[in-house]
Amino acid sequence: MTIIKSNNATIEIGALEKSSFTNLKYDYENIIVLVDSNTKILLPWVRTYFEIEQVKVIEIKAGEEYKNIETCIVIWEKLSEWNIPRNSLFVNLGGGVVTDIGGFSASCFKRGVDFVNVPTTLLSLVDASVGGKTGINFNHLKNNIGLFKEAKKVFCDVSVLKTLHKRELVGGIGEVLKHALIKDESYWNYCQNTDYTEWNWQYIIATSIGIKNKIVLEDPLEKGERKKLNFGHTVGHAIESLSLENKVSLLHGEAVAIGLVCESYISFKKDLLTKEELIAIQNVIFRVFKLPKITFSIDLILKWMKFDKKNTGNEINFTLINAVGSAIINQTASKLEIENSIHYYNQIQAEK
Ligand SMILES: NC(=O)c1ccc[n+]([C@@H]2O[C@H](COP(=O)([O-])OP(=O)(O)OC[C@H]3O[C@@H](n4cnc5c(N)ncnc54)[C@H](O)[C@@H]3O)[C@@H](O)[C@H]2O)c1
Repeated sequence: MTIIKSNNATIEIGALEKSSFTNLKYDYENIIVLVDSNTKILLPWVRTYFEIEQVKVIEIKAGEEYKNIETCIVIWEKLSEWNIPRNSLFVNLGGGVVTDIGGFSASCFKRGVDFVNVPTTLLSLVDASVGGKTGINFNHLKNNIGLFKEAKKVFCDVSVLKTLHKRELVGGIGEVLKHALIKDESYWNYCQNTDYTEWNWQYIIATSIGIKNKIVLEDPLEKGERKKLNFGHTVGHAIESLSLENKVSLLHGEAVAIGLVCESYISFKKDLLTKEELIAIQNVIFRVFKLPKITFSIDLILKWMKFDKKNTGNEINFTLINAVGSAIINQTASKLEIENSIHYYNQIQAEK
């Protein structure tokens, strides 16, 4: 078992049966397990750790399009109907959508019910379940309503990956590559030199969480250092929001992967990154992902970027990289630089 300590949370990486998950039943009278319509297949696995009468289950619809206030209302209505007291525990059993919305709903209910995360996708194992960002999409804007609130504990058991579809598994690799690119060259070399089908998941999860956690410890509320985690997300979130609005199927991790290529290109054009580094990055991304062409107009993309939470004034805020394993925050890019990065991405995409 690998144990990582955060500000207020403990992250346990290893088999659930060997973790402290089993002790939760002594600390709380009511356990509310939040699942979505896919992760409910894992319910029997976690139920065995609690007394039957302790557990209540809330099932929400699966998918990013349900990460919204209507789903929160469904959750809060259930909790009210059951008259759940504050001294209860939410167990968020799912991917990033369930951990984001579960953490947010629990934290708002009666001014805060404790929650733990049991992430079930690669993306949530390596990223979304830790760091204390919870929230929902609003008016098609990603994570526009939310709170910083850490889970009491996070239990990362790689066995959950067995039931995950390949496309979802690959989606999580976008955040893995981001962690390597912003902070750890040797991690990048491992990802670059080993085919992902051969990856040691225990190592990947522990390394990615280790990188994210170190950054979050230093800057929990994203005043500076934490912005490094947004590499790939300025372009990524705009493309993801536009895809959501237009009902185009694109996973969060795929949008991040597109963002990594575009923002690496912007880094290159600003002489922060060499051509060789840019090519190495795009090669790894296109080897792992099957990505679509970007068909949205540059004006639309810019419109969505202007909503980004990191922006100040009229400037669009970017995190860029100045070497593999090193990020710099609070950068800006012109309309032309952004437009050129989209053209560049589309050109590479067409060649692959
Ligand atoms: N809070 C953060 O710091 C943070 C960081 C990164 C991403 N996110 C958020 O995470 C979300 C994306 O997370 P995601 O990629 O995990 O998406 P997701 O939660 O929608 O899960 C993807 C799909 O896989 C299914 N699924 C999950 N686990 C499964 C399993 N073990 N077996 C079979 N099917 C399973 C889900 O039902 C869903 O259909 C986005 O909303 C993003 O904004 C949050």
